[in-house]
Amino acid sequence: MDVIKLAKNTEICKNCKNIVIGKGNLNADILFVGEGPGRNEDEQGLPFVGAAGKNLDKLLAKVGLNLEDIYVTNILKCRPPENRDPSPEEIKAHTPWLIEQIREIKPKVVCSLGNYATKFFLAQGNVDEMDKQPGITRVHGKSRMISLDGVEFNLIPLFHPAAIIYNQKLIPLWEEDMGIVKKEIAQKKLF
Ligand code: URA
Repeated sequence: MDVIKLAKNTEICKNCKNIVIGKGNLNADILFVGEGPGRNEDEQGLPFVGAAGKNLDKLLAKVGLNLEDIYVTNILKCRPPENRDPSPEEIKAHTPWLIEQIREIKPKVVCSLGNYATKFFLAQGNVDEMDKQPGITRVHGKSRMISLDGVEFNLIPLFHPAAIIYNQKLIPLWEEDMGIVKKEIAQKKLF
């Protein structure tokens, strides 16, 4: 895949231990998109296996979902050193890969986890416009249609599970937002 070659040209891909593509069910209706692999994800080659991942598992269980029901990936497929924020160039190099994944999975709903993924989708994939987008606190739980490179889906932003570890008050909001995700999917199945 050419997009893989493109992403491998970034320094972070040359320096990471593993390229972290995704996990879960490729036929799922819901795609979760986080920011990028951390140390544990880099070691194991799987997304969301560290503290944030354990919290994601717990949060999913609270709303009766597991990895059979979703697919999980990230904006970046390689760990930036010291978990620094991704640069616009890295996002530009890695997201064609994400768009390929969306084409393959054809999710009914994409849940962006936290600010980076949310701003990428709200900017319709235009990385230079990401800074102008509202933050997760304003847009969580709000569903909207997104068209990215001709692929259409509903975006529902969610708080990042790592943020919820430090602020447990976000748990009821996360559950409420997941209620909206489930409702959106149920409605789409009627047609
Ligand atoms: N945080 C993310 O955004 N993604 C991971 O895979 C792990 C932690």
